[in-house]
Amino acid sequence: MKHWLIEDVAWDRFDAARVDPGIVALVKAAAMVERNGEDYARYLNGVFADDPDFRAAADRWAVEEVQHGEALGRWAMLADPSWDFADSFARYREGFRIDTGATQSLRGSRAGELVARCMVETGTSSYYTALADATAEPVLRQLCQLIAADEFRHFKLFYDHMRRYLGRERIGLPRRLAIALGRIGESEDDELAYAFHCGNEAAELEYDHQRCLALYMSGAIRCYRFRHIERATGMIFKAVGLRPRGVLSDVAARLAWRLLQARQRRLARRVPAAA
Ligand SMILES: [Fe+2]
Ligand SMILES: [Fe+2]
Repeated sequence: MKHWLIEDVAWDRFDAARVDPGIVALVKAAAMVERNGEDYARYLNGVFADDPDFRAAADRWAVEEVQHGEALGRWAMLADPSWDFADSFARYREGFRIDTGATQSLRGSRAGELVARCMVETGTSSYYTALADATAEPVLRQLCQLIAADEFRHFKLFYDHMRRYLGRERIGLPRRLAIALGRIGESEDDELAYAFHCGNEAAELEYDHQRCLALYMSGAIRCYRFRHIERATGMIFKAVGLRPRGVLSDVAARLAWRLLQARQRRLARRVPAAA
């Protein structure tokens, strides 16, 4: 059962004057990654083949992710009527596929897989909250708030299943932390950068990972405020088994914020050349 439907969004409140083209480019990329959610459900169904409860939950989860993609794609077509979501998504599917036939988690264990899923949901929940706060366009703001609420629920879903698996697969703090940091680092892989390319660049222009990463990440990081990073840090701490609130998480949040700002400055320096 979905928590909201695309028709629940107040599309008639769309205000073209409040559209920021930089944010439109980010939304186009996000729409494609979200729309691709079914492949992740296929992968999770393979990894959790003998766990019907989890498989059913993963299938329901993917329906929500696909809806995120459809809704974001619809908004991006309102903001840029020349953009064709179906066309861009077809290009994305052509060039980016995950291994949907796997029977073992890439992370070495099911509990590890669920730690990685918690990181993805930490990333998406904080990102849509940041986008909702960054945009002045009322429809996008409402949409991002609805999506962020789903992403927080998804975190809880994977976290609860992770707790269950940790009872059988005893992976300790160092391993969970390594998986968590590894998955966060993967945000710089092709998935998002290539989505940015397919959503925003002409098909004739050859894909360049560094160019697209710089364009996507520098724009995305600009939307964040410290409070978003603070909350995300608490969620990361919770997923790896540390206290989500306390001196350590405060220090980590401040450090993460500084690293993110430095990363943004480095990426932004590459952008004029990239664009
Ligand atoms: Fe999503
Ligand atoms: Fe999600």
